[in-house]
Amino acid sequence: MRPVVWRNAGSQTAFQLRPGASIEVTNANPDLAGAIAGALSDLGYDVQRVSQPSGSADGAILTEGTASRSHEDRHWTALQAAKAARRNSGVIILLQGAELFSGLEGLSRTLRKEWPDTQVCAWTIAATAAAQVVHGIQQGYADGIITSSGELLSAEAGVSIAPPSSVPTAKTSVWLITGGARGVTAACAIELARAAGGTILLAGRSAETPWPTDLPPTDDLKTLRGLLVERSRQTGQRVTPAEIDRTARNLLAGNEIRETLEAIRATGSRTAYIPLDAGDIDAVADVLRDAQQKFGAITGWVHGAGVLADKLAMDKTESELRRVFSPKVGGLMNILAAIDPVQLRHIAFFSSAAAFFGNKGQADYAMANALLASAGRSLAQSLPPARVKVFHWGPWAGGMVDSALAGHFEAQGIPLIPVDEGARIFACELLGGGQDQIELVVGEAWATS
Ligand SMILES: NC(=O)c1ccc[n+]([C@@H]2O[C@H](COP(=O)([O-])OP(=O)(O)OC[C@H]3O[C@@H](n4cnc5c(N)ncnc54)[C@H](OP(=O)(O)O)[C@@H]3O)[C@@H](O)[C@H]2O)c1
Repeated sequence: MRPVVWRNAGSQTAFQLRPGASIEVTNANPDLAGAIAGALSDLGYDVQRVSQPSGSADGAILTEGTASRSHEDRHWTALQAAKAARRNSGVIILLQGAELFSGLEGLSRTLRKEWPDTQVCAWTIAATAAAQVVHGIQQGYADGIITSSGELLSAEAGVSIAPPSSVPTAKTSVWLITGGARGVTAACAIELARAAGGTILLAGRSAETPWPTDLPPTDDLKTLRGLLVERSRQTGQRVTPAEIDRTARNLLAGNEIRETLEAIRATGSRTAYIPLDAGDIDAVADVLRDAQQKFGAITGWVHGAGVLADKLAMDKTESELRRVFSPKVGGLMNILAAIDPVQLRHIAFFSSAAAFFGNKGQADYAMANALLASAGRSLAQSLPPARVKVFHWGPWAGGMVDSALAGHFEAQGIPLIPVDEGARIFACELLGGGQDQIELVVGEAWATS
């Protein structure tokens, strides 16, 4: 299988702002804002520096993504500033620093879908390079990286469309797979165990709750809730519907974890489950220190942990964004700090097609995944012995795609990735894909749309 290459920005030009146009520049990075405002005023633009856009200018240049703040704060304040600028229905430029892990192109691509009357672009620049911004305004550049010579580089990714005929084998001795005990990442972990073997450590928040001896086996949530209600009736226990639901989900999670561990053991690999919230910095440091003492240095890392909190950008709350960022972005940074990255030979980040194309209701998720992609590109440069793959998955027939979501995709004519096919594409690309093809969009519809 040879992935073909997908370029995101069809045209380099997205808008026109003639000299004389009114532009607001946010002060989140005062030095950069001052330099941009000065240079644009000299060219005849009517420039104001503001703490928050008024929504009444022709264009807004937002410097939040270049400020020295936490990833969560940079992305949340950029979203807030974009919302404030939205009323002008004009041009919104989100700036992000090339030296930081950032995902504001996930936001611009999503906002273009949610706000079709607004031109939203994300430019990656050197943090002090006002000249690149001025050049971008004059050219009306679309999303991309503006180089020091003023050239626009647009995002590109391979597209994996065909299931591979065979999965190459590899020798990476100790794998850490966040989210690997459940959902679609579990299927990928099992395929990896078949092909690569070694020690496979699966990490997730759920406990390995044992199945009660007085309940018949089932993997159906509704049936299990019914069984638990019946049992509480028989024992005279008062239990709320919320408690029943929580117990049922915990039991099913425990089952799923055991099934994944058994399937991995059946391949002859060694495996263990580590209860761990990837977003908890102290827990990650403690648990991975102990795990590496016991199993050896981590040499393969698959980051599959993720949650959704879908809502249109205008209604999105900071706590929702933080919830979505915690496993993906918090997990990324916490794990990078807890392992020795130089030991890594394989790195896979589970992103979403939403990061590459944008998706209504997923501004936070698209940003978090686009940030993973920026980290993947950066790690590929700094760790040449490692094969790095960022999978921008289309929707799978499993995991977070429940039956309601599956129906929604079906209605749009977007076929789902069969779980075994996705797992094989994952293992094939991670173990044998081209070293220079870092980002992949996987899913039939994305390749043809
Ligand atoms: N399914 C799809 O169609 C699709 C499409 C595009 C991208 N993806 C990406 O693929 C990955 C897996 O998705 P999925 O569909 O399998 O979702 P899922 O069924 O909801 O599984 C999510 C996994 O992440 C783990 N997780 C969540 N928060 C965590 C945290 N704070 N720390 C550690 N583990 C955590 C979960 O385990 P616990 O609940 O036990 O913590 C679970 O194993 C995600 O990153 C998702 O963004 C999936």
